[in-house]
Amino acid sequence: MTSIQAVTYPIHFEEKAYDELAKIIATKNYSSIFILVDDNTLECCYPRFMQLLNTNKPIEVIQITPGEVYKNIETCVGVWNAMTELGADRRSLLITLGGGVITDLGGFVASTFKRGIDFINIPTTLLSMVDASVGGKTGVDLGVLKNQIGVFANPEMIVIDPEYLHTVTPREIRSGTAEIIKYGMTHDINLFNQIKDNPELNIVDLIHRSIEIKNEVVLEDPKEKSVRKVLNWGHTIGHGIESYFLESDAKENLTHGEAIAIGMVCEAYISHKLLGFPKEKLTDIKEAIIAIYGKTNLLEDDFTPIFDLMKHDKKNVGGEINFVLLNDYQNFKIDCKVQNQLIKDSLEFYNL
Ligand code: GLY
Repeated sequence: MTSIQAVTYPIHFEEKAYDELAKIIATKNYSSIFILVDDNTLECCYPRFMQLLNTNKPIEVIQITPGEVYKNIETCVGVWNAMTELGADRRSLLITLGGGVITDLGGFVASTFKRGIDFINIPTTLLSMVDASVGGKTGVDLGVLKNQIGVFANPEMIVIDPEYLHTVTPREIRSGTAEIIKYGMTHDINLFNQIKDNPELNIVDLIHRSIEIKNEVVLEDPKEKSVRKVLNWGHTIGHGIESYFLESDAKENLTHGEAIAIGMVCEAYISHKLLGFPKEKLTDIKEAIIAIYGKTNLLEDDFTPIFDLMKHDKKNVGGEINFVLLNDYQNFKIDCKVQNQLIKDSLEFYNL
């Protein structure tokens, strides 16, 4: 796979990426190097990383507990303290090796430590390869509210090594697949068609195209002032559902992708009602999503709390919920206002 140039940094793929990583480590002459892992990536990914990276510089491991519930400021304080105790300074490098929690949190820790040190992302889940690690968004959750605290900060490099996908569960792969489906609906319908028409598909083949699309959008609008909002297709309702399931003791947590998949069905329904998104495509989306992710039980009583959580979406301005909607596949409209009742109707439509 050929490298992709993002705004200020390259994205390198497969084993040759480790040579590029070794080069940057040698050229930049970092005073110290840290790698942020969680219990899982320390066991399953770190050995491969150390085997492939050709450097004689010492690398200090900083380990955190895996899970979205640890994506918070307390965990950041722990990492900042560890770096301080280990003598990190402004010329240190932090490598992040993990899923979206590690790359988002690690990027935030690095970009705020002593007002900012270099970091390099090595995503190990599909979700972080095709979305979280690319595009310069870093941050942590505030309670159950996703990614409320953070900064835009670009890594020095991203290493995409699909071999790490052997270390994650099929459920995690499906979670990342939702973001690829998103790129399909908004930019390149082939991605969605390939996924729904071919259950045996090797998803690795779709990673490069997904990153290419994300990178093009981010190059055009790095700080999400306009067109980057399209990357939130399915996320306005999806994040509300994800947060609600996270905070509700009675519900088993959904993965990010499972929640976003439901969000895409609901937002396709709203697109149909408001922008005339074709009915047969709406039916197609609902069938495909349920075939891949199964049906989640949403109760009537869930609608209001989900709706209340959506009010915290970062795209909202002046208390109004802002949607990305589709006129058709590959034809979107940002900053759409939607009436509360239609949002609830869309959750009802998913339930039918
Ligand atoms: N995950 C959406 C974005 O990076 O803009």
